[in-house]
Amino acid sequence: MNQYTTNSAQQTIALGTSFAKDCRAGDVLAFFGGMGMGKTAFVKGLAKGLGISADVTSPTFSLVNEYRGEALTLYHFDMYRINTWEDLYSTGFFDYLDTDAVLAVEWSENIENALPEGAVYIKIQAGENEDQRIISIGKGEEFDEDIGD
Ligand SMILES: Nc1ncnc2c1ncn2[C@@H]1O[C@H](COP(=O)(O)OP(=O)(O)O)[C@@H](O)[C@H]1O
Ligand SMILES: [Mg+2]
Repeated sequence: MNQYTTNSAQQTIALGTSFAKDCRAGDVLAFFGGMGMGKTAFVKGLAKGLGISADVTSPTFSLVNEYRGEALTLYHFDMYRINTWEDLYSTGFFDYLDTDAVLAVEWSENIENALPEGAVYIKIQAGENEDQRIISIGKGEEFDEDIGD
């Protein structure tokens, strides 16, 4: 697992942009961390790194936003309101899993049982002050079982 410390939203965005270089077709990026931790900030940077110029915002009401990048399509999910398998099916999550797109999934706590094997976990935690975040990136098995608590 890799761990990063950022001290501003801009630094988290920049981390997302550099992370885009490691993204491959079919990758699922599962974000963990509560409200205001910087999940959307990371995805904003990720989108930029994938060559997407659109302004990325939390898909809280739309549940999923689609962006066409230079080489890869990005589906950006917000699972905040997803409580049941039926809800999850309705987002199209399982359909997009079978494509060559990159999936970025905010509030993966709510769908952890549905994440595919090999999903990349991105956990954002508060740091020592208001603007600091500790960002851990790795495979699911590298994280505690209670990641979603
Ligand atoms: N190091 C940091 N990384 C990311 N966001 C930060 C950081 N420090 C402060 N912030 C602020 O935290 C908020 C993060 O919002 P957002 O990315 O929408 O979070 P989330 O999608 O996790 O709810 C923004 O208001 C941002 O300015
Ligand atoms: Mg968000």
